[in-house]
Amino acid sequence: MVAEPTARRRSRRGRLPGRQDWSSWPHYQAAAAGFRGYWYPVAFSSQITGKPTAVTLLGERIMVMRDRGVVYALKDRCPHRGVPLSYGNQQFPGTVSCVYHGWTFDLKTGDLAAAITDGPASPICGKVTQPTFETAERLGLVWLFVGDGEDAPPIDDQLPEELVGNPAVVGVRRQAREGNWRFAAENGYDEGHAKYLHRTALWRLFKAMPVYNDTRIVRRGRWIYRVQDNQYWEADFPGLGKWSGRAWYKFNPPVAAAGNRNIGNTGGAAKVDEVIAAQDFPGFASISMPGVLRIAYPKFIHYEFYVPVDADHHLYVGVMVNFAEGVSTLPFYAKYLGAIRWLFHGQFSGQDKWMVEVTDAPPERLYRPDESLLQWRKLAEDVTEQRAERLKESGVTPDSGRPEVTR
Ligand code: FES
Ligand SMILES: [Fe+2]
Repeated sequence: MVAEPTARRRSRRGRLPGRQDWSSWPHYQAAAAGFRGYWYPVAFSSQITGKPTAVTLLGERIMVMRDRGVVYALKDRCPHRGVPLSYGNQQFPGTVSCVYHGWTFDLKTGDLAAAITDGPASPICGKVTQPTFETAERLGLVWLFVGDGEDAPPIDDQLPEELVGNPAVVGVRRQAREGNWRFAAENGYDEGHAKYLHRTALWRLFKAMPVYNDTRIVRRGRWIYRVQDNQYWEADFPGLGKWSGRAWYKFNPPVAAAGNRNIGNTGGAAKVDEVIAAQDFPGFASISMPGVLRIAYPKFIHYEFYVPVDADHHLYVGVMVNFAEGVSTLPFYAKYLGAIRWLFHGQFSGQDKWMVEVTDAPPERLYRPDESLLQWRKLAEDVTEQRAERLKESGVTPDSGRPEVTR
């Protein structure tokens, strides 16, 4: 009799083999709706105008609007009867008024400046403060800081270092996606899939990809890097035969010049952009908290920001950066609009989107290339533990949310 395969795979306790949950990383496991204490990009700068816009970030509904050039963000729930403030509009400069009874909040402080339908002497004024969020604008995007009441660190301390102070042109793709943000971050940093899943992508169609690599994960500063010690372009699988990422119509990777071995995912580059070379990245793929992926190519860097909307949705923000200014930016624009936007930020990244939607873990049975996932979870865990200790010292309870202040 042939055993029923599912029954055979299950252990005596009726569980699938492998890791049943993520309890080895309790902070990571608890962060289904994202990590607090970071800046997140939520919209294009051009989308935020004098008309309130609603965004959801880390499960919180936030109203974002612009007043005289500056972006402000307030909790999107009127404390009076709970109507979204984002349905309101502006009646006085520097304020937003709730659509229902006209409670009017100072955009900067969140203080209730007027309750229009109770007249100028309304005694509730000065007694209610709406929680506010710090905002910033970088790379043509609006960023919000969601914390636990601590002061926001300067956003430049959190952005990838090379994006601060170097002239650059950027091509951005922003897309609301289904699936938990951790699946997106893990997919981005996952060592195993690119060579296999993406070998059919048009972006990769003419470029050979290795079958497998020897990879080490190295931490430097805030980032962990994938360092590829060896790449294998063909392999003989016992009893099965040869398998290769090469094909007659694919170009073989360029022979890397000395020192360029770790740029680009096909093994190296003949020439690397000066700003990128100056970073001396130990590996071409790196990730940092709170889910920022950096893929260094010879002439540009691609970043992915996985922004947690809630436990089941995230915002994908793909940013392609070319370190150029003036007329030398024109070839990048042409290449971005003509090709990268469609092939890379579109179809290639669409394959990742699909996988993130259908990933279902834990339970999971990890294999050797998943060292990349394990190290990312460890980084998230360690950094979050350090933050929890810092907050404890300053008397703040992490994950407590922002209290609604009523004086
Ligand atoms: S619900 Fe906002 S003013 Fe009444
Ligand atoms: Fe991918």
